[in-house]
Amino acid sequence: MADKKIIAVVGSTGSQGGGLCGAILADASGGFACRAITRDPSKDQAKALAAKGAEVVKADLDDVESLKKAFAGAYGVYAVTNFWEHFSGEKEKTQAKNIADAAKAAGVKHVVWSTLEDTRKLMSADDKRMPMLQDKYRVPHFDAKAEADAYFQGLPVTYLVTSFYWDNFYTFGLGPKKGDDGKLGWTLPMGDAKLAGIASSDIGKVAYGIFKAGQEYVGKTVGILGEALTVKEMGDKLSKVLGVGPVAYNAVEPDAYRGFGFPGADELGNMFQVYRDFEKQCLANRSLAETRKLDPALQSFDKFVEAHKDQIIGSMG
Ligand SMILES: NC(=O)c1ccc[n+]([C@@H]2O[C@H](COP(=O)([O-])OP(=O)(O)OC[C@H]3O[C@@H](n4cnc5c(N)ncnc54)[C@H](OP(=O)(O)O)[C@@H]3O)[C@@H](O)[C@H]2O)c1
Repeated sequence: MADKKIIAVVGSTGSQGGGLCGAILADASGGFACRAITRDPSKDQAKALAAKGAEVVKADLDDVESLKKAFAGAYGVYAVTNFWEHFSGEKEKTQAKNIADAAKAAGVKHVVWSTLEDTRKLMSADDKRMPMLQDKYRVPHFDAKAEADAYFQGLPVTYLVTSFYWDNFYTFGLGPKKGDDGKLGWTLPMGDAKLAGIASSDIGKVAYGIFKAGQEYVGKTVGILGEALTVKEMGDKLSKVLGVGPVAYNAVEPDAYRGFGFPGADELGNMFQVYRDFEKQCLANRSLAETRKLDPALQSFDKFVEAHKDQIIGSMG
């Protein structure tokens, strides 16, 4: 352990960081050790990581001093913020700045920052196709992360541009649902555009690939995906792999979707519209070849669905 390079993993009890911890811990001879950061070392996920050999350390993204202590002696830091806990672009930026400041203070050799693109660069400020949210963002959880990229300048950083998690189908209720007639329908504002998606656990595996490659990726931006598919293509695959009836795609307009009123509907409406209206640019920002190179076991959509059959079927109602 002592001779291993320690990666301090923010979000270790969550999807991205959990995937990275799993990858480090599964590769005993890989030369890396996992320092799992959590606000609550007594929670089940933290205990499970400790049982597998992680060093569990308590820290809070709202407390920069706790992060400085948690990063001390580490070789690398995996940096991720959780927008969906508070829905605030400003808070997300403050937390990202705390991570960057603490990583600078600790003198770490490699930071992988989980970011997304600035969607405001895709359209002019007076473009009326979608509302501005929180005063200055088109898609706050994208734009705030992109703004936070600046905090990491001056650090040996890799900017990791992630994709839509397929896990959202059952964790966020974004998958197909059974109607009153028992038939499956899928309401999304994606038109016929392809959505760049990924199994969330693969993000951590890609990050591990980046830490292993080291210097080659410092200063680089890496955009990743598992597969890009239209909603119709995903629906057909779900139906085939799960052995359920056909999935009827109800392609609504983003305005209608934003009006559905669930928490985050406006944010997700804008996000899907960006993926729809700027399909080419979103796909150009992500490379399947590079993702596979960093994560040779990268899951296809079919493989992901096969592995999460019960959760997906259970979420269909
Ligand atoms: N859903 C998607 O499709 C998608 C796609 C691309 C990017 N993203 C981005 O992914 C991010 C979330 O990552 P995730 O899905 O891996 O998260 P997650 O599974 O929801 O878990 C959240 C993690 O963040 C940690 N955390 C949250 N607030 C913290 C704080 N104040 N101090 C320390 N740790 C804190 C939690 O740790 P403890 O609770 O143990 O402290 C937990 O490990 C979001 O910002 C989202 O925008 C999501």
